Amino acid sequence: MKFQERVFSGMQPTGTLHLGNYLGAMLKWIDLQKTHECIYCVVDLHAITVWQDPEELRQAIRQVTASYIAAGLDPQKSILFNQSQVSAHAELAWIFNCVARLGWLGRMTQFKDKAGKDREKASVGLYAYPNLMAADILAYRATHVPVGDDQKQHLELARDIAQKFNGDFAAAIKAAGHEDGEFFPQPEPVITGPATRVMSLRDGSRKMSKSEPSDLSRINLIDDVDLIAKKIKKAKTDPEALPSETDGLSGRPEADNLVGIYAALTGTAKADVLADFGGRQFSAFKPALAELCVEKLGPIAQEVSRLMNDPAEIDRVLVDGANRARAIASPIMDEVKDIVGFIR
Ligand code: TYM
Repeated sequence: MKFQERVFSGMQPTGTLHLGNYLGAMLKWIDLQKTHECIYCVVDLHAITVWQDPEELRQAIRQVTASYIAAGLDPQKSILFNQSQVSAHAELAWIFNCVARLGWLGRMTQFKDKAGKDREKASVGLYAYPNLMAADILAYRATHVPVGDDQKQHLELARDIAQKFNGDFAAAIKAAGHEDGEFFPQPEPVITGPATRVMSLRDGSRKMSKSEPSDLSRINLIDDVDLIAKKIKKAKTDPEALPSETDGLSGRPEADNLVGIYAALTGTAKADVLADFGGRQFSAFKPALAELCVEKLGPIAQEVSRLMNDPAEIDRVLVDGANRARAIASPIMDEVKDIVGFIR
């Protein structure tokens, strides 16, 4: 293996984290922390691709950091920091702005969704967003990127950028001592488990998201136990009993979603959940799911609120993480600058 295995991932500090972020990404982050060198970022530069109130942004950065820690990421073991403190991200993103092609970015479905009908009014940053994401990963030459299913296309772009950079600068890369001409790895998406795409609790055809107007559509990592139970109780379902096999979930998006959530929270598979609950009505399944959510998420919400009482300590964690992140990224950026032909 030429590249040392290294994990990188991040979340935007725009509003509070929800069950989709937790099951789709964070549970895997926590797992990988046991076996890998991990770098987990609060991507504040990405957040400002859409206007953010400065004071709310500052609070959101702290709250996402508190959620990372409360959910089980250990700031001693993993590197936790906010993106804007490490200038390598913005520097490499600029270089990638000059490597990636307009046509590639034009195909990004998330830009199309976020920009909406009036694309002319979207920020340039929103368009170039995936180049910054590629820079996040490649500034550390990270090899594994645990994310939810919605980030798949962005990761394919990161792979394309890595490949094009390696190709565009092949001679300089070889001259710098990388004989196989590969300076950047092809980062692997890690999109695994029963909940890679958690859907809205109100509409099984829409992704659970921070931007959905109805708060009943999602469970936030800071919701108290009563609210969690209420949201599960009100979750949309269909009138049928649960099937005994996973095939029976097809065409039943709400049932599929709730079974996936149950499986992810218990670290099992949908088939295991159906082995227990197949043939039972939602009136029996929902209370069990609510209890499980409360058991797993209640302590996280409590810990977030405890940590938020000491913002100076959170800021200290971020500064420490940024120092450690910089120590990895700096020598890589030095090499990138040499390869591109800059003088330093
Ligand atoms: P963001 O902030 O939208 O989401 C953070 C993580 O949560 C996952 N996720 C979901 N997973 C399952 N079901 C859902 N409903 C759901 N909603 C969100 C996302 O897939 C993501 O893993 N562009 C990224 C942040 C980013 C990044 C990076 C990620 C910036 N640089 C480098 C990896 C590597 C984003 O907006 O995620």
